[in-house]
Amino acid sequence: MSGSSKTISMDGFTRVAAVDDIPAGGAKVVEVNGRELAVFNVSGTYYAIYNICPHQGGPLGEGTLKGHVVSCPWHDLAFDVRTGLASDGGGNCVGSYEVKVKESEVFVGPRRKVQD
Ligand code: FES
Repeated sequence: MSGSSKTISMDGFTRVAAVDDIPAGGAKVVEVNGRELAVFNVSGTYYAIYNICPHQGGPLGEGTLKGHVVSCPWHDLAFDVRTGLASDGGGNCVGSYEVKVKESEVFVGPRRKVQD
């Protein structure tokens, strides 16, 4: 596989990367349906959240990932990539999206519902 950026839709999911494109502890910024998302690899499990920080628009996909938490590169607000919720409990959040891996390809689907 070449790791091309070709996009294929599958049951509402869109191919965004090959698994090898996103190393463990890393991220890739992708566009799905006109929306910029950051896809993270946390120890082999992939998560997708909206890439734009709600504070002043920092690119979360360029932030520092520690465990499941990414820190915004601009002013350090931190978000749990599993849920999109700010890890400080302060009420900030970004959208979180379904992710599937199939045959070494990473697919992003619909926005996940926030659970109480
Ligand atoms: S823009 Fe992300 S913390 Fe300020």
